[in-house]
Amino acid sequence: MRIAIIGADGQLGTDLLISLRNYDIHPLYFPEFDIIQKEKAYGILAGLAPDIVINTAAYNRVDEGEEDPAKVFALNALAVRNLAISCDKIRCALVHFSTDYVFDGKKKTPYVEADCPNPLNVYGMSKLTGEYFIRSFLDRYYIVRTSSLYGTTGCWDKGHNFVDMVISMEKNRSPLKIVNDQLMTPTSTYELAERIKELIKTERFGLYHLTNEGQCSWYECAKSIFEMMKIQPDMVSINSSEYGSKARRPAYSVLENMKAKKIGITEFSYWKDALRNYMIKKGYIK
Ligand SMILES: NC(=O)c1ccc[n+]([C@@H]2O[C@H](COP(=O)([O-])OP(=O)(O)OC[C@H]3O[C@@H](n4cnc5c(N)ncnc54)[C@H](OP(=O)(O)O)[C@@H]3O)[C@@H](O)[C@H]2O)c1
Repeated sequence: MRIAIIGADGQLGTDLLISLRNYDIHPLYFPEFDIIQKEKAYGILAGLAPDIVINTAAYNRVDEGEEDPAKVFALNALAVRNLAISCDKIRCALVHFSTDYVFDGKKKTPYVEADCPNPLNVYGMSKLTGEYFIRSFLDRYYIVRTSSLYGTTGCWDKGHNFVDMVISMEKNRSPLKIVNDQLMTPTSTYELAERIKELIKTERFGLYHLTNEGQCSWYECAKSIFEMMKIQPDMVSINSSEYGSKARRPAYSVLENMKAKKIGITEFSYWKDALRNYMIKKGYIK
């Protein structure tokens, strides 16, 4: 099976390259491969003739995105539409990633795939629009909503991931002020990539939620990180309004991997266990 991976040097892309290494893999890197350049991107994909295209490219800077919705929609929605059209012409399947931020957080139990989205910010709206474009142009797609990713390369678009960021902040900021009123599930890109490897074998196309198990706030996540490191920095729990982000975020965006469990995809580990594995891999703990 020939697989093209868009954004192959990103946080998730890097782990996909490792998990899918036994396939005929074609990594595609920005800016040589730019999904915004419709015709050029189509030409490259048509030349490769992959069985599956995996798209990890996205505009991920949630707060900055509020200032420039056109830029966010160009990458997360319109370019995704063009990619779906290209995949249809090439007759290949598409794996695309979306977000827990398609939900408004009013529900207080984990969101399942059938729950109605209602995004609160430009990023969430753009990602949901991307989902709808794929669904309207393709039958053979996997849209995978995931949450709060961390991986060994860090998110390129943001320049870091949350885990690495709080660890670096601990050294030069006191007290550490961390938001405690947004519940989500930190998710390991290593585990996500391994589940994608299973999912693409099933040919059970559709929309999936894929995250680690359990839930926490950003504050609880940071507390666990420092407990694992056996250090006790001065930490203050604050709420979202005190933090003063430009973008509104859901207070609750925990996803239930309902469909993946139904089709027998290996369950993800509990978020703290996955986090511990990551901390060991990065050399933060032994
Ligand atoms: N990060 C999170 O917490 C999170 C949470 C939920 C969902 N997601 C979704 O998960 C997916 C993967 O996220 P990630 O954290 O792995 O992102 P990432 O680290 O920013 O990786 C994105 C990759 O796409 C490339 N790229 C950017 N613009 C492109 C373009 N116009 N054409 C082609 N490639 C382009 C980037 O290249 P450059 O580095 O050279 O720009 C990078 O290699 C995204 O769809 C994201 O929305 C992420």
